Amino acid sequence: MGKDVIIACDFSSEKELFDFLGHFEGMERKPFLKVGMELFYAAGPQIVRQLKKSGYRVFLDLKLHDIPNTVEKAMRVLAGLGADMCNVHAAGTEKMMAAALRGLNSGSEDEPKRGAKRPLLIAVTQLTSTSGSQLKEELLIERPMEEVVAAYAEHAGRAGLDGVVCSPLEAPAVHQRLGKDFITVTPGVRLEGDAAGDQSRVTTPAMARQLGSDYIVVGRSITGAADPASAYLQCMREFAE
Ligand code: C5P
Repeated sequence: MGKDVIIACDFSSEKELFDFLGHFEGMERKPFLKVGMELFYAAGPQIVRQLKKSGYRVFLDLKLHDIPNTVEKAMRVLAGLGADMCNVHAAGTEKMMAAALRGLNSGSEDEPKRGAKRPLLIAVTQLTSTSGSQLKEELLIERPMEEVVAAYAEHAGRAGLDGVVCSPLEAPAVHQRLGKDFITVTPGVRLEGDAAGDQSRVTTPAMARQLGSDYIVVGRSITGAADPASAYLQCMREFAE
């Protein structure tokens, strides 16, 4: 599994996105980008097609969580956008995750993906902003975070998914239970000295590498840097090279 850094493009307009991407012009390999709810809701589905057409790899982070029938149909539509990676919440249950995979495999009716490779499908285990005490006191889950994440990852594996979103701190437990080919995509990453903000389970890119994450998702440490390109290259050096 080639390690890579995914930049969380949490912007509220297309203009902000393309101004930001200007920092990466001329790079030999275009960065892997994450389009989340903010940008998707602001710019619409075409933003994914546009980024793909421009040669970027795209993780479409919409975290679907609904009844299986609704998720299956939504995934069918999303399959037509050409993203490289999509996700759902594991809390939606194994049945919902299996439905998502069916939807993704059948592709959109407008643009059948005949012969095309489907996007990777991963499941969010527990948000990296959720702390151990919130897990217990608000979500009423008594087990320790690492155990919950590893159990949710098992459900995702049984549903046929390719991997999970978790904190780098939980990547070893996930790989131990599901093997090294089961992908761990890990947000909650900060360059040394940067503020954690609302994230609660945080590591540096170097630590994420040591813990065995396959992809790190980095937002504010890159998007909020004075020089985003050099912050990105530092993440790549620490994590992927
Ligand atoms: O700015 P920051 O590096 O905290 O951004 C992390 C990104 O990863 C955000 O876009 C957030 O939505 C996403 N994410 C997360 N935790 C998860 C799943 C996704 O932080 N479990």
